Amino acid sequence: MNKRFIEKRLNSVIYPGLDKDIMTLKTVKKIEPNGNKVRIELAISNESVFETIESQIIDVLNKDFEHIDVSFNPKLKPSLNYGNTAKPNNRASYAKYIIAVTSGKGGVGKSTVSVNLSVALAQLGYKVGLLDADVYGPNTPRMIGVNEEKLEWNDENKMVPSENFGIKLMSVGLTTPSSDTPLVWRSSVAVSALIQFLEDVAWGELDFLVIDMPPGTGDIQLTMAQELPISASVIVTTPQAISTDDVSRAVMMFKDIGVPIGGIVENMSFFIAPDTGAAYEIFGSGGGEMIANRYNIPLLGKIPLTMSIRQTSDEGRPAVATDDAIQKEYYLSITRNLLVQMGIL
Ligand SMILES: Nc1ncnc2c1ncn2[C@@H]1O[C@H](COP(=O)(O)OP(=O)(O)OP(=O)(O)O)[C@@H](O)[C@H]1O
Ligand SMILES: [Mg+2]
Repeated sequence: MNKRFIEKRLNSVIYPGLDKDIMTLKTVKKIEPNGNKVRIELAISNESVFETIESQIIDVLNKDFEHIDVSFNPKLKPSLNYGNTAKPNNRASYAKYIIAVTSGKGGVGKSTVSVNLSVALAQLGYKVGLLDADVYGPNTPRMIGVNEEKLEWNDENKMVPSENFGIKLMSVGLTTPSSDTPLVWRSSVAVSALIQFLEDVAWGELDFLVIDMPPGTGDIQLTMAQELPISASVIVTTPQAISTDDVSRAVMMFKDIGVPIGGIVENMSFFIAPDTGAAYEIFGSGGGEMIANRYNIPLLGKIPLTMSIRQTSDEGRPAVATDDAIQKEYYLSITRNLLVQMGIL
């Protein structure tokens, strides 16, 4: 059994989360066949990624070899040493500022805010990249209308981000065969996919890298804070969530790990009736101010619940990119307020 044959078999082993095989990605360091044995060494450092690849390798070679010894050398890629929150790594040195959009709770509008904030920054003339860190529910590709695009790689073997409305986007949603493909990943695999998105995407030079975080205060949030010097986090909440502990959890997490908080956005603050334009404060008022005061964090702005924000977003057109001046202004003023908080404006 020669090496060429083994290489051909390994062409069908796909790196978790990426559309490419381990031969193309040069993940295979050594192939040493010896009678009915074969030794394969991989250049990866994440144990869960290793396990996933190892079991695929065994699957494609177990008919040809009795002993398959797959190993990996964590030292081969020294840049994969994880940082800590006190002294984070900087895996995105191509970006001047990094903004993390987060919340303690799901479904409050993080992705909508991330997308509109990114497009608003681009409208102000900045170079912007949006990283969708929600690997389990990536919906930013649909929100900017690139969900039909397929991941491409450039000559330097870097992933090419999708572009629309003046921003670059990278999302797991672009790497999976169809947008509703469910991902069953250990969180460490998710984390290593995100690190790959930081390091192996052709972002170019950026003024801002905006990160759309998954819901909660878990592994991914912590890793991002360890691997990136986050300039500001934006905490999104809804009036209902304010009465729960979710916002507090998110605020406390970022305070604890020393990530600067740029401010709070209160989303779905009030309802604007599409027929009359009248505003209804369904959930009462003053919640955003209360949280802002309690934690001494600026309130960047409030966004109403409107039919058109949801509709345009579902159609792949962020509200800030429509010609509805009132709607645009909600996001533009939040963006300006954030830049003021960050000392940029
Ligand atoms: N201000 C708004 N008015 C109307 N609809 C909104 C508004 N903000 C968000 N939505 C809608 O609410 C839904 C959830 O929003 P979004 O996906 O941005 O939340 P999320 O916090 O990112 O959710 P997840 O936790 O699942 O990532 C989407 O259908 C979105 O279009
Ligand atoms: Mg989201």
